[in-house]
Amino acid sequence: MRTLLILASLMLAAGAAWAQEPGGLAAQGQKVFEDNCADCHRLNGQGLPGTFPALDKDPFVQGDPSPVIATVLNGRKGNLGQMPAWKDKLDDRQIAAVISYIRQAWSNRAPAVTPAMVSEARKARK
Ligand code: HEC
Repeated sequence: MRTLLILASLMLAAGAAWAQEPGGLAAQGQKVFEDNCADCHRLNGQGLPGTFPALDKDPFVQGDPSPVIATVLNGRKGNLGQMPAWKDKLDDRQIAAVISYIRQAWSNRAPAVTPAMVSEARKARK
């Protein structure tokens, strides 16, 4: 019985570690992306030419994480129109997950972003 309990808690700990791990975060981000971003940027990350930018093969998305985090938190008005702000709709973990996802989905290969990085970026704005 005791060994079983120890085994069960070990498995729980392993599960929690997996959820913290970047691969796990990006996987969660896929759902956040499908629910919130795919209407504009499309499921395949190709966007809509002249209207919504493609995120696949995008150097901005795969570059320095700070401006990517700022864009998703605060939105951006540019040549193509208005990218909505997500800071009041998604929490740090969801934003880290969705950015990790777009940095690793399709043909993109960039390091994940952590919830701590998003939380720092929020504070920096205040
Ligand atoms: C209502 C449509 C819409 C939705 C929904 C939307 N975006 Fe955007 N997004 C845009 C537009 C338009 C731009 C370009 C703004 C500009 O012209 O600078 C943009 C730009 C971006 C950029 C910058 C791309 C670059 O190369 O500069 C990123 C990253 C991004 N969006 C991520 C996301 C994520 C992540 C979500 C979901 C949480 C999301 N967007 C949801 C419309 C949208």
